[in-house]
Amino acid sequence: MVHASFTSMLAFFLFFSSGCATAPKVEDPYSFGVELMADSSPESAQNEGSSPATAHTAAQEIPLVGLRGLAAAYHLDFGVAVAFKALSISKYAQIVSSEFSTLTPENEMKWQYIHPVAGSYELFFGDQLVQFAQSHQMKVRGHTLVWHNQLPRWVSESVTTEDALLKLVTEHVSTIVGHYRGKIAKWDVANEVIDDAQGMRDTLFYRLSGTEFLSTAFRAAHEADADALLYLNDYSVEAINPKSNRLYELCKALLAQGVPLHGVGLQAHWDLDDLPSMSSVRKNIERFAALGLKVDITELDIRMKGAPTPERLRVQAEAYAALVRVVLDTEGSDSITVWGVDDGHSWVPQWMSSYGSALLLDGKYRAKQAYAAVVGELSNR
Ligand code: GLA
Repeated sequence: MVHASFTSMLAFFLFFSSGCATAPKVEDPYSFGVELMADSSPESAQNEGSSPATAHTAAQEIPLVGLRGLAAAYHLDFGVAVAFKALSISKYAQIVSSEFSTLTPENEMKWQYIHPVAGSYELFFGDQLVQFAQSHQMKVRGHTLVWHNQLPRWVSESVTTEDALLKLVTEHVSTIVGHYRGKIAKWDVANEVIDDAQGMRDTLFYRLSGTEFLSTAFRAAHEADADALLYLNDYSVEAINPKSNRLYELCKALLAQGVPLHGVGLQAHWDLDDLPSMSSVRKNIERFAALGLKVDITELDIRMKGAPTPERLRVQAEAYAALVRVVLDTEGSDSITVWGVDDGHSWVPQWMSSYGSALLLDGKYRAKQAYAAVVGELSNR
């Protein structure tokens, strides 16, 4: 059953009509959101005025100039992952629409939220995000149809055979992609299917079907919306390394089987102290492009350990700019998405307690050097 349930609509109404005192009925896997944006976060506190990094950032007063417009001149999409809850913050919403040309729902289209109960789809939050994007002439990147994480327990509890799994994957993918037919330009059909030891990840999907779940998911997505571009998305595959080699082999195998795979998503969740070589990133993009695939940077953030010093922010800025340069200079790559609007809305400190400051804007929506460096890269060519 496909529905935007009455309870969701009620939650939505309460959420906005009560000054956000009542959160919508979607669980946020990260604890950020409206509460955190009351500037009570450690990140905000860090940026409150006394730290050298803050003084540095604030002193520069880097204006927000609209990345999307600058990027458009190079036919580059500059996107952002958006949390539905945070769109109730006017500043956040305004930055999303003025700075970015593509919106990726950060969580709302993941299986856990969009298909929480067998046979019942919760499309309300995804619909709201799509509507927001449409009303601001933004594209939408659907994220993500098949993933071993954020998968509700009922799936593993009820599915024990390959047939049942493939039937469920087909239903899930056809329903969601069909619902958004014509509205979602690109889908991350499958997420993180390669494990860190460079084999196929040992998931319920793989255990029951080998790689059949992939062909099934991609074919169902293509059937539901023949115009949508379909991606395999993964992390630590930005440069040439054993894991990206494995992804490359998988892509070749799927293409050889005639699977409608159109691109790879390189997540690019980077650690400032462990950045990949940019020449290797370039070569990697080129080899996937040579297979006829598009290559998108889908979840970019560059985290740093500890408090952000001016020097660390400068190095971060260089890394952001270097990646933008590689994308602009490389055939086959025309899309960069950052994984969050600002440091107050980033998964990083929630998941890695000593890390943060990973995005282009600080916790008070002030542009950082990284933002200025990206603007520079998009302006001075
Ligand atoms: C992965 C997923 C994203 C998001 C990030 C950060 O990369 O693809 O949806 O969950 O992790 O948490």
